[in-house]
Amino acid sequence: MAENMENVPISTVDSPSVVLELIYQLKIKDVMNTAVITAKKTDTMRHIKAMMQENYITGIPITEDNKLLGLVSIEEIVTALDDGSMETKAEDRMVKDLIVLEESMPLSFAISYLNKYRYTRYPVINKQHELVGILTSKNVISTLLVEMNREVLRLEKLHQKDDIPGGFLEMDFIVSKMDFEQAGRASTEFKKALKKHNTDPGIIRRVAIASYELEINLVAHSDGGSISCSIQPDKVTVIAADTGPGIADVNQALQEGWSTASEMVRSLGFGAGMGLANTKRVSDEFTITSKPGEGTVVRSVIHINSTKEESL
Ligand SMILES: Nc1ncnc2c1ncn2[C@@H]1O[C@H](COP(=O)(O)OP(=O)(O)OP(=O)(O)O)[C@@H](O)[C@H]1O
Ligand SMILES: [Mg+2]
Repeated sequence: MAENMENVPISTVDSPSVVLELIYQLKIKDVMNTAVITAKKTDTMRHIKAMMQENYITGIPITEDNKLLGLVSIEEIVTALDDGSMETKAEDRMVKDLIVLEESMPLSFAISYLNKYRYTRYPVINKQHELVGILTSKNVISTLLVEMNREVLRLEKLHQKDDIPGGFLEMDFIVSKMDFEQAGRASTEFKKALKKHNTDPGIIRRVAIASYELEINLVAHSDGGSISCSIQPDKVTVIAADTGPGIADVNQALQEGWSTASEMVRSLGFGAGMGLANTKRVSDEFTITSKPGEGTVVRSVIHINSTKEESL
């Protein structure tokens, strides 16, 4: 069990390429702990035990002139306690036959060491064979987490940008007659999507006005329909279409203040007769086609690079 806990559950062979790239790019020196607590070969086992307790660690490298001579870990302390040799010098008890890592090795080495050998910590040396750090599975896991997090954030950003690669994003909502509870949902989703694509706030505001007015008209005046929004690199198109009852005089409907809104609709604060006029005002292209008995289609296009300021 303890052994498994020291493993790093990542395959250095068949992990996803993003992970493989990371573990080959990162060097041991990027991951290791450089604040190493060391002891001298003449220090007693008792002294080393005290150092371990003081620093909450379970292994101490023994060095001389920065050169690694050996390592005393908790097992050697336990043995020394057992046979009453706590006054013995470290040099007589330390493990000399060590598996070490070299600082410029890729992290993949450390991962396979941790999975292959039973040791929980590996001294790290440089080209001059000086001790420069120590590496544990904890260092590996926390570095990998940080790096993977960074990588995921980078990929997410890329993905967001690629979402409309010269193509477009299309969203469609069904709108039901007199369903004031859901009214505004479509326009909220359109706003969210545009924000995600870092659209200019002025453009978002205009799309929000057009789509909200058209959505409310579907709820308040139509028998039900749908509203769609397609986001293209150069423009946003909102189309509201319904199945009836249609508008007898479209020009009249476009006039500010003209409304056939019912008492119920007015009681909810709508019916000023401003919706279509406002939609037209914020649009770069605006068309409305309607026939009594056949339904209404309103199309509002807002150009992304347009300098038109909506004036409401
Ligand atoms: N989809 C539709 N189907 C049928 N009639 C519609 C539709 N949209 C608008 N109309 C008609 O056009 C009129 C004007 O619409 P407009 O959106 O400008 O104002 P309103 O909805 O009455 O009030 P406001 O939008 O200010 O709350 C409506 O009162 C209604 O008679
Ligand atoms: Mg309206």
